[in-house]
Amino acid sequence: MFAATPNPTNLNRRMERTLAIIKPDAVAAGHAGKIIDRILAEGFAIRAMKLVQLTRAEAEGFYAVHAARPFFGELTTFMSSAPCIPLVLEREGAVATWREVIGATNPADAAEGTIRKQFATSMGENAVHGSDSPANGVKEGRYFFPEHVIVANGADVIDA
Ligand code: CMP
Repeated sequence: MFAATPNPTNLNRRMERTLAIIKPDAVAAGHAGKIIDRILAEGFAIRAMKLVQLTRAEAEGFYAVHAARPFFGELTTFMSSAPCIPLVLEREGAVATWREVIGATNPADAAEGTIRKQFATSMGENAVHGSDSPANGVKEGRYFFPEHVIVANGADVIDA
């Protein structure tokens, strides 16, 4: 007899993806394990994950939308300074749920119980990233992972 389907709740539903990054500050401080535990406790399926040190050019490409902002240099220097962990996360309402779990960009504004409240030290070194829309969730996931290495598990993913 075949084993049970690993995650039957994901089948035949319109799932969302978000790209999470455990940023260099959180990896260096040893918080990655706790953050991954939280991801799973919040009901996300991890569809792809890797440890990688970005080049400056890769960080600039990922954050290209912020290229004209005054903090762009600081942001891309930081993001390429040490290893980070990008993850493709999937669940219903993934984008809004992950943004709620991580909290406000500035840890001073982050609510109690959020990851940034717990682990972020500044606006720049703010522990984690999350996509801002379902379309960007898919696009940002593809920035780090070709589609064939994302473990899709049959889900019908919202990508627009
Ligand atoms: P993130 O969610 O990864 O998206 C863009 C990042 O830019 C953001 O998290 C912050 O880390 C960073 N950022 C935004 N505003 C500032 C700022 N004023 N100074 C430094 N970094 C910033």
